[in-house]
Amino acid sequence: MSDTNLQSHHNWHAQMISPSCDKGQGTRGCFLRKEFLLEEGQAAPQLFISALGLYRAFVNGQRVGMDLLTPGWTCYDQRIAYQEYSLEGLTQPGENTIEIWLADGWYRSPIMWKQNEIINCWGDRIGAIVEIFCEDRLVLKTDHTWQAGHTPILRSGIYYGEDYDARLELTASHGVEVLDFEMSKLVPHEIAPVKELEALTPIDHWDDESGRMVLDFGQNVAGYLHIQAQGNPGDRIQFEYSEVLGPDRFFDNRNYRGARAAAEYILKGGAPESWSPMFTFMGYRYARLVFPKSVTFLEVKSIPISSVPQVTAGFTCSEPSVERLVLNTIWSQRGNFIEVPTDCPQRDERLGWTGDAQVFSGTACWLADCNQFLRKYLRDLMHDQRSNGALPHFTPDPTRLHPEQYRSDWAGSTGWGDAITVIPWQHYLHYGDATVLKECFPAMLRWLDYLWNISDGPIIHPTNKWFGEGFTFGDWLQPSGDNRKPRPTIADDCAATLYHFISTQLAKKIAQVLGEDEAAEKLTGKLEEIRTAFEREYFSLSGRLAHNDQTSYALAFLYDLVPDAHFESAKGYFRKSIENANYLIGTGFIGTPALLPALTKVGLLDLAEKVFLNREVPGWLYQVERGATTIWERWDAMAPDGTIYSPEMNSYNHYAYGAVCQWLFEQVAGISPTAEKPGFNEVQLNPQILPNLNPISMWHDCRHGRIEARWEKKEQQVDYRVTLPAGCQGRLMPNALHQHVQLNGNPVSVSLEGHLINAGSHQISFELIAA
Ligand code: BGC
Repeated sequence: MSDTNLQSHHNWHAQMISPSCDKGQGTRGCFLRKEFLLEEGQAAPQLFISALGLYRAFVNGQRVGMDLLTPGWTCYDQRIAYQEYSLEGLTQPGENTIEIWLADGWYRSPIMWKQNEIINCWGDRIGAIVEIFCEDRLVLKTDHTWQAGHTPILRSGIYYGEDYDARLELTASHGVEVLDFEMSKLVPHEIAPVKELEALTPIDHWDDESGRMVLDFGQNVAGYLHIQAQGNPGDRIQFEYSEVLGPDRFFDNRNYRGARAAAEYILKGGAPESWSPMFTFMGYRYARLVFPKSVTFLEVKSIPISSVPQVTAGFTCSEPSVERLVLNTIWSQRGNFIEVPTDCPQRDERLGWTGDAQVFSGTACWLADCNQFLRKYLRDLMHDQRSNGALPHFTPDPTRLHPEQYRSDWAGSTGWGDAITVIPWQHYLHYGDATVLKECFPAMLRWLDYLWNISDGPIIHPTNKWFGEGFTFGDWLQPSGDNRKPRPTIADDCAATLYHFISTQLAKKIAQVLGEDEAAEKLTGKLEEIRTAFEREYFSLSGRLAHNDQTSYALAFLYDLVPDAHFESAKGYFRKSIENANYLIGTGFIGTPALLPALTKVGLLDLAEKVFLNREVPGWLYQVERGATTIWERWDAMAPDGTIYSPEMNSYNHYAYGAVCQWLFEQVAGISPTAEKPGFNEVQLNPQILPNLNPISMWHDCRHGRIEARWEKKEQQVDYRVTLPAGCQGRLMPNALHQHVQLNGNPVSVSLEGHLINAGSHQISFELIAA
């Protein structure tokens, strides 16, 4: 790893210690304890801390910091984060006590779906390493003299949930064991720690037929309940969670599959007691509580958690369901950006799926500051790259460490591994930092070599065997249409070859940015070879693409793979693929983010609008009208009568299809970051006017400050207002549908290169040319 950022800033003297009473994964929680002395008048002590597993620290009985799920989740075999806290206000002159509670966390609780679950993935021993400094003086460190005992946490696990018995006291009657540990793995936490968001209170509650209390918090989140309750010693409160209710308010969490995702709290009794789980989270909107009559609740709240608590963009328009769709995307990002960008926060996966992350990365950077978050994820991705260049389906990748459970090395799907080119590129556009490109460039080249090696001149023919070499997820979850008239779908070879082209093209651009001229030249050669092969293999003489489906056209147009000679006819076929589907989406994970940008690019804006605003399945707004508060994994996740489709493979919180927000910001509101002046030093201005959204407005906090834009259409006249912060220039781009363009009241002629405008507020107006 080249980045100096990753060197441990702290020179560790302590040892990694493990409680000797720990009985292994899935058993009672343990803590470590030690007393330490502080002198009068000393500066506030500084704590350095990390763990194998998850930890929470208490000094003199008070919690240290408000961070959650520390030390975080990384490829633990390579690096483990440590945190640094000031203990100001927590210590006193004289005797003090520090206590570290430990849990299995991602480190050793079961991970991956039940049939393939891996236990003790990174190790079977939990432990902690701690140092406390007063100025430069080391006053405490973990070593063999610490004591240990059991916590009241009976069991906890990422998928399991958490059980707690408040009657149990903490007695430190055990010793510790010093573990063999490589200190060089400890790195400063690379991202902002996970935090609690503002609590949600129930919007409704009722008792079900068995007398269980069901609560509706109105919003699907990743998090947990916080309760304040009073009752008798030994009273038991059981918590279950669900994302949806089926017909007749059926509490349906079958889609959690192998994840228990529940909790239990046993009361100490007497005074009111407050509790929420410490080392886990669930994905839910509803909760169901079972408890004896002797329990009274003083408070029940839902606490969402996230690594990206701060929203950095908003979009409003005249269509409320579109506004809700954007909000749903924000909530899906929050709930899935917990240390790692995951597919979903509820079932027995919650993995850093690379395909999901790459299609969403552009949108992610609009909606939250993902600078460090994605940079860290890319490091995980690179660490999990195989020696043949294949990149993992998810990272941190538990399968890489346990090949014995897999028939082959399960990695290397196109559309997924391409995270190595797409994410650095989106990151560069948003944050303008070429060091990320540089750090990832060698891994990109190795990925491209891998693709070339599994290709055949250079079309990729993936195997359709799960776990087979060269396997691809293709256009995962592409709707195949109803059985009366199935819609065409792309084949895996075409999808894979398209991504072969896309990644080669991005790597070429990146080589140019980095001044890697030789590599850029080589990549240009390969790009042309793929282009020629693609044309030969997939274009008919009339300009029709082999599978004649929406994904093929969308990706081919968006990435300039349609030869000029075929442009008009291919556009005609593209139009037909939409019209024949009654303006319904025919795309899956990789086609969907490209669909509306491609239609917009080729001038089929009217179709883009129709598809976007379609309220039937498959379409973005169907789920909004079904009451979704996060983005669904499947277009058809719930039938109009509320029946749950395929509970074994269904998530109601999967951000991938929320990638459409990037189109709302960049095309509809018309503000795009550029490769020439990345990091919002310059943005292209080119709004696409969708009459049914009129008027629209957006804002985004980029690194220079706030960008605002809005347009309003009256008859054919459009008023477009843009405010750019200091440090951000705009380039008004020509648009064939706009005429009589005026800037701040003066006519301008917009050349092909566009018209440069400075930071500040501008009023742009133009007239729409009737189609
Ligand atoms: C996950 C994904 C992922 C996919 C790969 C699913 O089980 O939830 O979102 O990308 O598998 O096909």
